[in-house]
Amino acid sequence: MATTKLWGGRFTAKAAEWVDEFGASIHFDQQMAAEDLEGSIAHATMLGKQGIITVDESTQIVEGLKVLQKDLADGTLVFDVKNEDIHMNMESLLTQKIGAVAGKLHTARSRNDQVATDFHLWVKHRLPHVLEAITELQQELLKLATTHAGTIMSGYTHLQHAQPITYGHYLLAYFDMFQRDYERFEFNQLHTDILPLGAAALAGTTFPIDREFVANQLGFNDIYHNSLDAVSDRDFALEFLSNSAMMMMHLSRMAEELILWSTYEFNYIELSDDFSTGSSIMPQKKNADFAELVRGKTGRTYGALMALLTTMKSLPLAYNKDMQEDKEQVFDVMDTVIASVKIFTGMLSGLKVHEERMLASTQDDFSNATELADYLATKGVPFREAHAIVGQLVLQGLQTHTPLQKMSLAILQSAAPQIEDDIFNVLKSETAVNRRTSIGGTAVANVKKEIARHQIKLEARQ
Ligand code: ARG
Repeated sequence: MATTKLWGGRFTAKAAEWVDEFGASIHFDQQMAAEDLEGSIAHATMLGKQGIITVDESTQIVEGLKVLQKDLADGTLVFDVKNEDIHMNMESLLTQKIGAVAGKLHTARSRNDQVATDFHLWVKHRLPHVLEAITELQQELLKLATTHAGTIMSGYTHLQHAQPITYGHYLLAYFDMFQRDYERFEFNQLHTDILPLGAAALAGTTFPIDREFVANQLGFNDIYHNSLDAVSDRDFALEFLSNSAMMMMHLSRMAEELILWSTYEFNYIELSDDFSTGSSIMPQKKNADFAELVRGKTGRTYGALMALLTTMKSLPLAYNKDMQEDKEQVFDVMDTVIASVKIFTGMLSGLKVHEERMLASTQDDFSNATELADYLATKGVPFREAHAIVGQLVLQGLQTHTPLQKMSLAILQSAAPQIEDDIFNVLKSETAVNRRTSIGGTAVANVKKEIARHQIKLEARQ
């Protein structure tokens, strides 16, 4: 006889300890202990209400589970790998507290709908923290963008100087990316807020359960309407991983710029001491370690998404043990994504911006070449021809180390007689920025309007 396992009735031989350990998930799924107890309390209450077990039995079970809740909070619960996972550990602990009546808790449910419920609850409880962290980051971005609505810097394509922009405009680009991240996580909530419990193993149950009641008790917005889908669906977890991967990609892009822009060569920004580290050998060093770490952690987030997508691929309906591999990825990414967003908010709040360096980067770099070409085009020169004329002037400027705005009017006119002396104002980077008033353009007035629009959006969130 090998009935020491909760499911041991039909078994005659015991597995070796190391084999049991391979199958166990208690070392990580104990993170869902609170959710497991919450789900069990709702289930036991429903069983009593429906007369599936007696009210007295239901009360004993609920009271026992509440004692376990207290023990959990006090940190006195001890889990045993022999009980495989959090669900069987809790049942065994409950049996120690209230005796054989604990065995009635598992009526009309299976570990398959139980684990799905715990996992849904776990993600449902934590998505608001993700949203909160994103909002704080967006607030920080708006603050910085307000200070730097008019701070001119070089804009890049191919990492080559392209056209002048403002730092505020740059920051708002990230605001928009994080806005989409926010909306994706909000949508993720819809698919998480669904109750699987009541699907039992896969086909539903013959007991007269009340799933709406359980959903209500647990605060779920909806219930799964197909029992097979209820126990097989991990889309909510995959959506979370996918949203996180996308968000980490955004953070990683910004991290790259923070790192690059704080180099000696760029010197556009300086990270505060509390978000930098030194070197154990080179006394002068100030490294952007935290930005680098966020950039690095993007890798494990992508890895988690790929891992779970691959685990779920080809799984026949309904539950398969493969699905036990879902939780560690999600647990890890939840910690990673919240911490990374918070680190970013901290880094941005202490950021020193070297405005004069940013402006200087636009003064001798020919990033106003488009202004001159556009100027000629408005004077009737076909743009293609204007492009060629300005290209010649740039070449000449590079050879003589003279930026366009430092060339004499006579030289400019010898290239194109249409040029008049109003060109010198046109060639200023400030003018280049402020004339870009097209919707979405970098003009300071645009940036200020966008900040106001975003502020309303953030205020509406409270
Ligand atoms: N520990 C399992 C998991 O995480 C719980 C469900 C087990 N169900 C089963 N039929 N073996 O997926």
